[in-house]
Amino acid sequence: MTLRKAHRLDNLTFSKIRMTSKLMDELEASGKEIVRFTYGQPDFPTPQYIVDACKKALDDGFTTYPDYCGPLNFRQAVCDKYERENGLKFDADQVISTCGAAQAAYLVLTTFLDPGDEVIIPNPMYNIYKIIGQICGATVKEYALKEENDFQIDTKELAGLITDKTKMIVICSPSNPVGGVLTKENLQAVADIVGDKDIFICSDEIYERLTYDGVEPVSPASIPSLREKTIIINGFSKAFAMTGWRFGYVITPKEFWEPLYLHAGHQVSGIPAFVLEAGAVALNDEPKYKTVEMMRQSFDERRQFLVKEINSMKHFSCLTPKGAFYIFMNIKKTGMTSDEFCDWLVQNYGIAMITGSCFGSEGEGFVRISYASSMEECKKAMVLLHQADKDLDEIVK
Ligand SMILES: Cc1ncc(COP(=O)(O)O)c(C=O)c1O
Repeated sequence: MTLRKAHRLDNLTFSKIRMTSKLMDELEASGKEIVRFTYGQPDFPTPQYIVDACKKALDDGFTTYPDYCGPLNFRQAVCDKYERENGLKFDADQVISTCGAAQAAYLVLTTFLDPGDEVIIPNPMYNIYKIIGQICGATVKEYALKEENDFQIDTKELAGLITDKTKMIVICSPSNPVGGVLTKENLQAVADIVGDKDIFICSDEIYERLTYDGVEPVSPASIPSLREKTIIINGFSKAFAMTGWRFGYVITPKEFWEPLYLHAGHQVSGIPAFVLEAGAVALNDEPKYKTVEMMRQSFDERRQFLVKEINSMKHFSCLTPKGAFYIFMNIKKTGMTSDEFCDWLVQNYGIAMITGSCFGSEGEGFVRISYASSMEECKKAMVLLHQADKDLDEIVK
């Protein structure tokens, strides 16, 4: 007997990021020393006040079925955070807890996209959106984020992609993998294109707490004409160093709430109550402990160090990223493809990066560096990368 997987899963492949990390595990097990710039996972432990809040919630008996959208105190903490930090007012009944930003993306796309609908996503982009769009049977179109355009949206190109089947545009700012932050002007230009069309914005804001050089993240929900069209996705993995806790949230205009709520109930039946209690404490007490800011400053130091080092080399260059913890390093002068370069670099110098091409065709000629690893690792890697740069003089003739 054969049990064939559903046709809608035909495009499903393993994440290149996970596969690269698995390969690194094997290389390390065989005795090779590797500096990893691969995972988008902060090297910090979860702040102690959040861990303590979770333990207390367990002791206090937060162990029963939660509401599918999360308890009111969690949802209110999300609203208070957005009002305090982003200047955006929402009601608690616009929030739904999810199993990380990843499931939030799954929830939003699978709730609204039908076969035949069109969704427009960035290229390059953290690849879950493309896969989920395909699972929905939607047509996935892509707008380019180009280095020469400071990784902003080319709104002429975007306008050309919109048809009467376009249902959703995905925006991710700050971006994984390019580290770019969209300007208010750029988002306003997107809003002008969308106008009063029946198109909504799915805004992945998982890196919004991590911006640098005084740059403020702008949510499309802050643009008046996009306010009632924007569904926000956010979470705790990155800014709070909580990748393994697996929770996040969606903030939606009220009219889209019910289908999301119903569907969330069938997808995961709620997020563990003790985790959401800790999540509420994480958001409410962050102004007191300032752990996000402490981690942000540390990422910033590494960012500045790496950008300077990379741009002092002959065969590599990068823009100064304004957000997230990624550098999208241009390797075009090496003459290698991104895949070839990553293989060559890890085999010969023990530095692991993620090939840019796994984030979309626009990522070819680039590699993603995650500087969520420690400063010591960054320093070690740059000594090795300088050596690789010198050796390339002999290879690139
Ligand atoms: C842009 C983006 N969205 C969503 C996620 C998933 O985050 P979470 O760990 O909250 O599921 C990631 C993780 O790397 C990401 O980079």
